[in-house]
Amino acid sequence: MFRYSPTLAMNNLIKIRESKNLETYKLGFGQSPFPVPQILVEALKENAHKKDYLNSQGLLELRESISSYVEDKLDTSISPDQIIIGPGSKELIFLSQLILERNLILPAPSWVSYAPQSALLKQKTHYIPTRFEDKFLLSSSDLGEFLNDNKDEKHVLIINYPNNPTGQSYTTDQLKELAVIARAHNLVIISDEIYSEFCFGHEHVSIKKFYPEGTIICNGLSKWCGAGGWRLGYMIYPKEMQKELEDLIYAASESYSCASTPIQYAAQYAFQNDDTIASYTQKCNYILNQAQNIFANRLDQTKMKFHPSAGGFYIFLEFNKDFYKYDSSIKLCNDLLSDTGVALLAGTHFGMSDEYLSARLAYVDFNGEEKLNRLKNSYLEDNIINLEQSHLMIATDKMNNWTN
Ligand SMILES: Cc1ncc(COP(=O)(O)O)c(C=O)c1O
Repeated sequence: MFRYSPTLAMNNLIKIRESKNLETYKLGFGQSPFPVPQILVEALKENAHKKDYLNSQGLLELRESISSYVEDKLDTSISPDQIIIGPGSKELIFLSQLILERNLILPAPSWVSYAPQSALLKQKTHYIPTRFEDKFLLSSSDLGEFLNDNKDEKHVLIINYPNNPTGQSYTTDQLKELAVIARAHNLVIISDEIYSEFCFGHEHVSIKKFYPEGTIICNGLSKWCGAGGWRLGYMIYPKEMQKELEDLIYAASESYSCASTPIQYAAQYAFQNDDTIASYTQKCNYILNQAQNIFANRLDQTKMKFHPSAGGFYIFLEFNKDFYKYDSSIKLCNDLLSDTGVALLAGTHFGMSDEYLSARLAYVDFNGEEKLNRLKNSYLEDNIINLEQSHLMIATDKMNNWTN
C-alpha cells in the first residue's frame, strides 16, 4: 500500500539521469524557480537563535499578519484565532482529513497527494471526472448529482485553483454555483489556494467569499516565496468550525508540535504588505506568465491538445492517440523520458485513467534568479526573459519530433 510520492519519485529519476550526465528537461517537477525574497532570508538569519517550541497553533504575530493580509483580499474579517500554522500546507491537509473524518471528493485530475493521504487514513476517495471542454474544472451540476446519489455519506471536497496539474482557475460565477451546491449539502470544502499569488490576467477570488461557513482555506510560502523547503503553510478555518480547529490543533500538538520557530518569525515579513514583497511577487508573476505564453505558443504548433494556463506552474497535455500509439500514460511518459530526456508526470498520478493519454508539464525549468535580476531595471520590456532559446523550447521541439 505504501508507495513513494510520484513527484518525488520523478525528482529522483531526474537526479539519477543528471548524475550520469544525461541531458534532462525537467518538466515533471513543479518547484518554484525563484529565490526566497531577500527580506525573508535576512529575517531568518536574525531569528536563527530562537530555539524554543512555539504553541501548536502557531506564532500569534504571524497569525495576525496573515489575518490582515487575507482580510484585504477576502474583504471579510478573519481573526488570528481562526488560523493554524503548520510545517507545509500538505501536513495541514493531511491532519484536516484525519480530524474531519469525512470521505473525500476530488475532481479528476487533482494534485497527487490528496488521495494517498485519504488512503493512509483508510478513508474513501471519490473522483468526479471532469472534461477537457470544461478545462478540467469541476462543474456544479456534476457535484450536485454526485452528492444527491451519495446522501448517506459525509464528504469533504478539495478544490485547488490555480490548479495543479491543469493550470486552470474557476471563474467567480463557477465558484458561486459550487457554493450553492455545497451549502445545500453541508459540504466541507478545503480550498487549496497555494498558487493564488500567481494568476495571469485575472485576480484570484476565493470560494470562501461565497461559502464562508464551510470553506477552509489552505495556503503557504512554498510556491509564492519559492520556499518549499522552509515548510511553512497555514489554514484558515471558518468561525463555525471552531470545534474542528481545536481538534486540528490537538492533532498538531501530538504530531509535529509546531512549525519551525525561526521560520515562523521570518515568515511574518511575507504578509506585511511590504513593497519589496509586492514587487517580487509582481515580477515572478510576470516571468511565469511570459514563460507560459511562449510555451503555449510553441505547443500550439504541436500535436498535443491543451488549454493555456491561467496561473501557477503547469499546463496539462492531452496526447492524440492517432499519433501516439500508446494505451498507457505512464508508459508513454517513461518512454518519452528515456528517448528524449523530457520528464513529464503522467496524468494517471492525478486520478485520470491511464488509458487517457495525458501528462502534466511544469514550465518552471529556468533560472528564476537570473530572470528576476534582468527585470530589475527594465521591467515589462518585451522578451526580456528571452525564454525562446531556453531549455523549455528545446524540450517542446523534442516532444514534438518524438512522434515523427
Ligand atoms: C496543489 C498543491 N497543494 C499543496 C502543496 C503542498 O505545499 P506545501 O509545500 O505547503 O506542503 C503543493 C505542492 O506541490 C501543491 O502543488
